[in-house]
Amino acid sequence: MPLRVCFIASEVAPLAKTGGLADVAGALGKYLHAAGHDVRVFMPLYRQVDRRALQLFPVGFLRDIPLQLGAHTLRFSVLTARLPGSQAMIYLIDAPALFDRAAIYGNAPDEHLRFLLLTHAALVSCQHMGFSPQILHCNDWHTGMGPLLLRTVYAWDKLFQGTRSLMSIHNIAYQGVFDAGFRADTGLGDAVPLLDAGELAAGRINPLREGIAHADHVSTVSPTYAMEIQTPAYGYGLQDLLARRAGSLTGILNGVDYEEWDPRQDRFLPLHFNASQLGTKDELKQDFLQRMNLATGARSRLPLLGMVSRLASQKGFDLVMSALPDLLRRHEFCCAVLGSGEPRYEQFFRELAHLHPTRVHFRAGYSEEHAHWIEAASDMFLMPSQYEPCGLNQMYSLRYGTVPIVRRTGGLADSVQHFDPLTRRGTGVVFNDYDVGGVTWGVETALSWYSQKTLWRRLVQNAMAQDYSWQTQVESYVALYERMLAGLPSVSAG
Ligand code: ADP
Ligand code: GLC
Repeated sequence: MPLRVCFIASEVAPLAKTGGLADVAGALGKYLHAAGHDVRVFMPLYRQVDRRALQLFPVGFLRDIPLQLGAHTLRFSVLTARLPGSQAMIYLIDAPALFDRAAIYGNAPDEHLRFLLLTHAALVSCQHMGFSPQILHCNDWHTGMGPLLLRTVYAWDKLFQGTRSLMSIHNIAYQGVFDAGFRADTGLGDAVPLLDAGELAAGRINPLREGIAHADHVSTVSPTYAMEIQTPAYGYGLQDLLARRAGSLTGILNGVDYEEWDPRQDRFLPLHFNASQLGTKDELKQDFLQRMNLATGARSRLPLLGMVSRLASQKGFDLVMSALPDLLRRHEFCCAVLGSGEPRYEQFFRELAHLHPTRVHFRAGYSEEHAHWIEAASDMFLMPSQYEPCGLNQMYSLRYGTVPIVRRTGGLADSVQHFDPLTRRGTGVVFNDYDVGGVTWGVETALSWYSQKTLWRRLVQNAMAQDYSWQTQVESYVALYERMLAGLPSVSAG
């Protein structure tokens, strides 16, 4: 049975992206639609959305719609387009006062209002379109008020009578907390007392907490993270609530869009390869090393370690800062790093590249093309995350035969199996402890296997044989939606 889904996210690739949430939102829209479901994706029309790359149409009956949120008289219009590479409809909420800004996210005092508008606008648009979603799928704190709004302010509308809400957690560390003085901005009206009393007493409103508390079901992006967030070390204060909701909490691993990330057809690469064409992977590496002025002469045989990431502490960069200089002193290998984020990490990589000009390449910033090149050209890929709800780059790495070195946490634990040289099974290097010894051991283990050519080839081929496609993962979402609609308790899906 085709399902009707209203999907709301603060970023959707390729229109606006700061991280994996955008990849997931774009892919879910695309693959749910391809599977025959009526999915309507809502996101803000940011300044950063390239309007020329889309065929955007104004929705005639969704023009200058007034919305009163507390003291704010807001107006929004809706433009629609096909999600690139798909026939799925995407609806962009146009409210220039809130979304025409220098960055997708900011810390202006009205940050909460921007995403409250998005959430209300999606629901109001459903009303104007006469679209009765069976599932309201909210993602991260930005849309966390969706489930409670559905149960209260919008409950009168028959259109939403059968709607079940799903709150997906992509990263629990970001909760969107704002001052309770702004409570009227939620648009909850008389329902404000339904907000979490403890948070209110502390003078706060926590949208992610509200989403988890009021959604019919909660999901997160890997089975391991679903367990981890019920513990104090990973729950960022929401562990008790999540443990209470454990019967309605499901972990579904993200998928990979292999139309975007596949070395056999990568649009950013001049040459393509599969698991039996590893010579071509080496040609790409040589080309890359040369262009980046890395490892000239005899050194071009050195292993290349890649990293592409937001430069945030979540990703384990404190460990990298402690471990990498020493590893580079003691072993012969090169590094290619692409990332943007916290200045202290950018500074660290800049200095490291300065110190080892022919061994370390660092590009600060965001580049889709360069990310594909690093995945294709590197021999190994480092992701020593402190926590990782799912993580996508380790799965891209597997497909490109770029052996992931990961910490055993969240989606990294669920997608990379530690290689065993005796049985020759496994797809990467997995270390347990979040400490310098752990990362050092991980990199040294990879370097030592790399020097054993037949062993390494086997490991690379094991990695490339993995399949984490969205086609499969989307089925897990559909099964979950169906369980929600049947009102049955859910079992954990892998
Ligand atoms: P997170 O969402 O926590 O940042 P994920 O691994 O889920 O982590 O997703 C990150 C996504 O963002 C991947 O598609 C990755 O390639 C991309 N990405 C991160 N940093 C950069 C960058 N500097 N340039 C290009 N792409 C990047
Ligand atoms: C978050 C997480 C990342 C996950 C992504 C998409 O940004 O940090 O692990 O892959 O969301 O779900």
